[in-house]
Amino acid sequence: MEPTGSGYLEFDQVSFSWPNGVNVIDQFSFSIKKPGLWMLVGENGSGKSTLFRLINGVIRPKSGKILCSLRPSMVYQNPDHQLLMPTCKSELMLSVPKSIPNNQLFNLIQSALEKVDLGAMLDRPIHTLSGGQKQRLALAGAIVSNSNLLLLDEPTALLDPQSQNSVLKVVKKLTSSSNDPITAIWITHRLEELYFCDGAAIVKNGAITKWNSGAKVFQELKSLALR
Ligand SMILES: Nc1ncnc2c1ncn2[C@@H]1O[C@H](COP(=O)(O)OP(=O)(O)O)[C@@H](O)[C@H]1O
Ligand SMILES: [Mg+2]
Repeated sequence: MEPTGSGYLEFDQVSFSWPNGVNVIDQFSFSIKKPGLWMLVGENGSGKSTLFRLINGVIRPKSGKILCSLRPSMVYQNPDHQLLMPTCKSELMLSVPKSIPNNQLFNLIQSALEKVDLGAMLDRPIHTLSGGQKQRLALAGAIVSNSNLLLLDEPTALLDPQSQNSVLKVVKKLTSSSNDPITAIWITHRLEELYFCDGAAIVKNGAITKWNSGAKVFQELKSLALR
């Protein structure tokens, strides 16, 4: 398998409209060519979740090209809509690729739990987990499925500050670890999170801005809000 570090995602003049609608995505061109934590901000209805569906391949562009060598997986706002099984272990079993031999299952699942700071939770019933722990379990699911592109659609919107921090910290670690870092795209309305990213862009009026530093995008949005 190719090293994660060489993966890419590229949009080349991609447009998309829902039936009877205007172009929600209007000639988007951008690329991500190295691992890291990339954040997207934009008003409700600006097309951020639609963009994720295009990356994930659930919908196809009306025109333009999407080139992606990464293996995407989604993490949603509400983990209760994503987690299906009674325990952490049984939940992760669902995401293990069929090609993994039985004698490697335990190590794979345990190491994924450790990567998201849930190492002691193998047999824990999911209903006893906090919101932040549930989101991290969803991340572990993506890891065992061998995904290397996390698409996080407002993953902290329903969490308290402590849980919010725990999820941000784990995603930051996964995307910046010296050993096999992965790529994450994170949609947020919580602007203070921008300070943790490696690049941020604004989705607005069918367009996407260039990648900028999180601090710059934070300042820009604050000054717009003050006008
Ligand atoms: N499944 C759908 N069918 C029709 N229109 C949709 C669908 N999903 C989203 N839209 C429309 O596309 C636009 C962008 O929505 P969305 O991508 O969800 O924005 P965001 O995630 O930025 O809030 C909105 O006008 C929304 O009503
Ligand atoms: Mg959305």
